[in-house]
Amino acid sequence: MSDEYKKTADAVRRERSITREQLACLLGQASSRDEEYLFAAARETAETVFHKQVYLRGLVEFTNYCKNDCYYCGIRCGNRAAERYRLTEEEILSCCDSGAELGFRTFVLQGGEDPYYTDERVCSIVRAIKERHPDCAVTLSIGEKSYESYKKYYDAGADRYLLRHETADEEHYAKLHPAVMSGAYRKQCLRDLKAIGYQVGCGIMVGSPFQTIDTICEDLVFMQELQPHMIGIGPFLAHKDTPFRDEPNGSVETTLRLLAILRLMFPKVLLPATTALGTADALGREKGILAGANVLMPNLSPVSVRGKYLLYDGKICTGEEAAECNVCLRNRIERIGYRVADSRGDHPDFA
Ligand code: 5AD
Ligand code: FES
Repeated sequence: MSDEYKKTADAVRRERSITREQLACLLGQASSRDEEYLFAAARETAETVFHKQVYLRGLVEFTNYCKNDCYYCGIRCGNRAAERYRLTEEEILSCCDSGAELGFRTFVLQGGEDPYYTDERVCSIVRAIKERHPDCAVTLSIGEKSYESYKKYYDAGADRYLLRHETADEEHYAKLHPAVMSGAYRKQCLRDLKAIGYQVGCGIMVGSPFQTIDTICEDLVFMQELQPHMIGIGPFLAHKDTPFRDEPNGSVETTLRLLAILRLMFPKVLLPATTALGTADALGREKGILAGANVLMPNLSPVSVRGKYLLYDGKICTGEEAAECNVCLRNRIERIGYRVADSRGDHPDFA
């Protein structure tokens, strides 16, 4: 085993911070024994906070309409090939009802930035879910809004908000998004959400076009400033009907190492092993948990629309097997020696 690799992992674990050099070391050339050392350190760290519990979130992808045109995303407005759909409030509620039946205590409402869902409609959906399932958390993941809108959703009962910052480097951000979007506003949204009182999640795609060690370094600095409750990362995966169709996919290896680094830097953070990771590698989600992740987000959307919420090519759990995700994931978690928590799975500082 490389002494330098081990020492670096130990230092990050101890200091809960990382320098550019340390990041380059941990993401650079390493033997499988080096890697395993990093993953084991992250696993142990997660275990001290969460024991061997994994939190499940039921994901409801309720609209794939989007007014944005992000270059990486399959549901960008410019993609004429995407078959669009919206779920009604009744359909969303029925997804949550079946989710509650299956034991989920968090519902994540995720969608494109779809103007059909006005603040009034969003608030009405949030209120209805909280009324029927007062013991459950509601997470919103519906993009950039104004402070006032975020406040309305919070007052309606939303508990958490996911908004990946995508990259903290504003020049890099400009290479991934059309000029009407700005990295500065994106980061402001996250600060607003935190100030309002949400449990907040930020995050990035690993291996997005133009990403470098330096942009990842900036991401980590931003995260240290924001102190998010959740961090969502997964590999970038090309979608055939986007401008990034020919870009190489992000690496599973790098994603796993970054998960481990995040766990060492933020011991208490909620860290999902994402669907993108499970798409890039059939055992990606299990590997993610064994590298320090502690959250899984199985799909609760109606099977009839799952094949339409395609941010990238090859997405898992969209076919015939889709109705079985709940059972499938529970089995996968148990097979690696973990267990599904039955609590809401709030951040330790919120619980
Ligand atoms: N590959 C991987 N992740 C993607 N996302 C969007 N498009 C892709 C893609 N092609 C991620 C973004 C977004 C989240 C909902 O999904 O980070 O914030
Ligand atoms: Fe969807 Fe296994 S998690 S089929």
